Amino acid sequence: MTILVTGGAGYVGSHTVKKLKEKGYSLVVYDNLSSGHREALEGVPFVEGDLLDGKLLSHTFCSFRVTDVIHFAGLSIVGESMLQPDKYYLNNVVGTLTLLNTMLAHKARRIIFSSSAAVYGEAEGVPILEECPRNPANIYGQTKAIVEKILEDYGKAYGLGYVSLRYFNACGADESGSIGEDHRPETHLIPLVLQTALKKREEICIFGEDYATKDGTCIRDYIHVNDLADAHLLAMEHLRSDRVSDVFNLGNGNGFSVREVINTAAEVTGTVISSETAPRRIGDPEVLVAGSAKARDILGWRPKYTELRKMIETAWQWHVKYPQGFGGRN
Ligand code: UFG
Repeated sequence: MTILVTGGAGYVGSHTVKKLKEKGYSLVVYDNLSSGHREALEGVPFVEGDLLDGKLLSHTFCSFRVTDVIHFAGLSIVGESMLQPDKYYLNNVVGTLTLLNTMLAHKARRIIFSSSAAVYGEAEGVPILEECPRNPANIYGQTKAIVEKILEDYGKAYGLGYVSLRYFNACGADESGSIGEDHRPETHLIPLVLQTALKKREEICIFGEDYATKDGTCIRDYIHVNDLADAHLLAMEHLRSDRVSDVFNLGNGNGFSVREVINTAAEVTGTVISSETAPRRIGDPEVLVAGSAKARDILGWRPKYTELRKMIETAWQWHVKYPQGFGGRN
């Protein structure tokens, strides 16, 4: 059995690939390197290709005898999705449809899909449970919600087995220090704050300090990337033991404000991190905090990183070692 890992050169993808490899799974990474890094995949079978290239995808399924898929590939910048919906619908929805149809053609019947807390939009209550309605507040979340619906329909019509994992805010880095978070351009809070600590940026802009939260800044549920990676292995085993298709939230259940993240990062790095208030960012929900009891109960998932400080420490270790990201070791 061979797993095709789309987007395996990306942030969550590369951490999952490392674990799959350590556990002896047979796999091949398929990635167009639009945001992933070849350096993150030492010693891993790799095909450089786009999801929209059905021919190459089909050839890859044949050559590697692909039986299962873990599907990370997708565009994920919320702000960009509001400005360029065409790009997001094409890559995230049409690209996934091409993948699913290729799977059916090659009788590959199991897929783990990287979904997102963004499918909920402005949730009615906290913590957010899987049964809450999908009501995305941005186009990025909308593309994830559409793919979830397609998976349900393909499950019913073609017997496709799927697990949709709704990540909350992925953060941190592998403790080996060999892989970490490197988006270009970077838009995520924790790496931007750490770049400020490294003096690569003068200050961090806080997008909105007038939310109805304890300190006026948005609240997010930060979850360590290796805990996310573990959940993919558990989800694959869940599907391989003929269990039913399902949807799981992956978060810590604790919310931290933007200010708390900045203050914790200042402690971890021992630096002063300058910040400035900026206008709210379009498409940002006020609070996103997960209820993840379902993943614990059904998949047996046990996140190991519960403290924000520890998560930021692992990210900091990567940033200090690779201040320029992949290819730029200190
Ligand atoms: N933020 C700032 N300044 C910055 C960057 C971010 O104040 O320079 C704020 C944002 O407004 C938000 C919080 O920090 O309130 C976290 O923002 P990120 O960009 O790090 O993460 P998001 O919450 O926007 O999005 C992430 C993923 C999405 C996913 C979402 C689910 O990128 O894919 O988490 O919670 F959908």
